[in-house]
Amino acid sequence: MPTAVVTGITGQDGSYLAELLLKKGYRVIGVARRSSTVNDERIRHLLDDITVVQGDLQDQGSLLSLLEEYKPTEVYNLAAQSFVPTSWSQPALTGDVTAIGVTRLLEAIRFVNPKIRFYQASSSEMFGKVMEVPQSEDTPFYPRSPYGVAKVYGHWITVNYRESFDMFAASGILFNHESPRRGMEFVTRKIANAVAHINLGLAKELRLGNLEAQRDWGFAGDYVEAMWLMLQQDYPDNYVIGTGETHAVREFCEIAFSHVGLDYKEFVVQDEKFYRPAEVDLLISDPAKARNQLKWEPSVSFKELVTMMVDSDLARLKKS
Ligand code: NAP
Ligand code: GDD
Repeated sequence: MPTAVVTGITGQDGSYLAELLLKKGYRVIGVARRSSTVNDERIRHLLDDITVVQGDLQDQGSLLSLLEEYKPTEVYNLAAQSFVPTSWSQPALTGDVTAIGVTRLLEAIRFVNPKIRFYQASSSEMFGKVMEVPQSEDTPFYPRSPYGVAKVYGHWITVNYRESFDMFAASGILFNHESPRRGMEFVTRKIANAVAHINLGLAKELRLGNLEAQRDWGFAGDYVEAMWLMLQQDYPDNYVIGTGETHAVREFCEIAFSHVGLDYKEFVVQDEKFYRPAEVDLLISDPAKARNQLKWEPSVSFKELVTMMVDSDLARLKKS
């Protein structure tokens, strides 16, 4: 039975990846940082099947000892301070976790067993103020937030350990991926959750920032399959993962509200508070390499994603 270590197990992607790895017959060791309250909402249904161990990307020793104890063949680094606005209010922490944390994990692998295959959760935020449209593995980076800057470091240190130490270190440059398990502060979940509240008479308006920003949005369940595929290749590499389509935040609102028979223009209020110091205006992937080499394709369309998220929040609220 192969063993995989997954950092960020309590996050959106961690929960989907754990489900996928279990289905494929892995022993899954999830790494969670210590907190004063239980934070296992997304993985509660998996707790009988996975092992959750304490560890923190800010603590080198914890990473070394868990690799020594569980002897994985694959490590997926999904942990990060991943919310872009927080990276302006906590830039040093974001750098320590999202950038230097990657080095700590790579160092732990190098010391314990350099044959371990490593996946780094890189991001389309690295393209920032985009240098070309669409963005591929060869597009130069121009990050626009401390988060984006930290991810550029994480990407390059992954490439560097591949080249310096011949380690199997892969970097997945994933475009935005969403699901009913998305954190509430990200725009898609914020919209879906607000639509459900408004539809049930529990809220009257939705305050948002820039409605014109465009993103290449896919379904998180599809994207974790690409992570796994990257570690099954003969050689480690960089891969862009996205749908190849882009949509504005405004379009997401339009579809989400109209799904419950409402007009978003009557409920959405633009609020300066949610504008960013520097915006990423347009992201759209060129996923040709993933399609050709990994044989990876997304299975959920934009409209299906929006309605899935609204339906899920409606069902959750009705139940509670
Ligand atoms: P998420 O839901 O925010 O999950 C982040 C995870 O990292 C959580 O489990 C969090 O733990 C953990 N974490 C934070 N700081 C940590 C630390 N110091 N030590 C150990 N764990 C820590 O993010 P996601 O959407 O699943 O994304 C997974 C990864 O992919 C992240 O690295 C993200 O930056 C990257 N990414 C995401 C997208 C996307 O669209 N979702 C796109 C490209 C790249 P707590 O639960 O305790 O907070
Ligand atoms: N969060 C949020 N809240 N975003 C808003 C709002 C709002 O009220 N109003 C407009 N937006 C716009 C943001 O300005 C941004 O252009 C877009 O919606 C998407 O914002 P988020 O959903 O917060 O995601 P993100 O694109 O900044 O970052 C996500 O995707 C990256 C991959 O490109 C995160 O998951 C990152 O961790 C990930 O790397």
